[in-house]
Amino acid sequence: MSDRRPIGVFDSGLGGLTAVREISTLLPQESVIYFGDTARVPYGTRSPETILSYARQDVAFLRSFDIKAVVVACGTVSTTALPALEAESALPLVGVVQPAAEAAAQVTKTGNIGLIATEASVRSGAYVRAIAALRPDAAVTAQACPLLVPMVENGRVHRGDRVIELLVSEYLAPLKAAGVDTLILGCTHFPLLKEVVAAFMGGEVALVDPGREAARHLERLLEPSSAGEAPSYRYFVSDSVEQFSRQAGLFLGTLAQGSVEKVDVASFG
Ligand code: DGL
Repeated sequence: MSDRRPIGVFDSGLGGLTAVREISTLLPQESVIYFGDTARVPYGTRSPETILSYARQDVAFLRSFDIKAVVVACGTVSTTALPALEAESALPLVGVVQPAAEAAAQVTKTGNIGLIATEASVRSGAYVRAIAALRPDAAVTAQACPLLVPMVENGRVHRGDRVIELLVSEYLAPLKAAGVDTLILGCTHFPLLKEVVAAFMGGEVALVDPGREAARHLERLLEPSSAGEAPSYRYFVSDSVEQFSRQAGLFLGTLAQGSVEKVDVASFG
């Protein structure tokens, strides 16, 4: 009997939907319960204590369903709170740091790796440590990009948008100057900026998508689910359902169906 319980996925906002999209491609039989903490996004500018307390509530909410695993589809929570969350839960938790670091260590030819992420993620040093353990010869140039998350949440992700192009060029200039051959998009919001980033960095720089790598990791972890009932997608947010419904299509593409509900996440955990 295959395990038909859903997978729980959460993020501070909508960025984790990039992981949901990858899960739906790689694991099309799996049902997903997603929580986006849209009332409290961004997490990346907050203290480690606040990030942990929010993340505990996010996990507690998802665990109020009978789920089989949790994907921490938030770079900030993965870099800052994952060990504490793991210590408190017997359920498998898949973060984005280790899968993205493994992909970068494998893809890089020169060992010259760039990282863009939130302030909290860069400050934690988690990506740098994970890469150093895999490729001690690698050099990582890390850049915090705090203004990119609100831009992505507002759908400002397209080439030709001068504001996002200017921000990306400013943030990425040091990484380009460092000559990185691989760039980790260390926040799950950033895969939406792939085209703008690739246009600035050049097509030869490999981009690592943390949501995709976490989905691949999940695929290796789970028993394959047999085909059966169609999978279901349920989305929960802590702020406006209407706003989520307006923006979700950008992140999810054709997968934007499924129910959306509002939840008071602070009452969990
Ligand atoms: N998607 C989150 C991350 O991966 C967004 C960051 C934030 O809330 O600041 O880090």
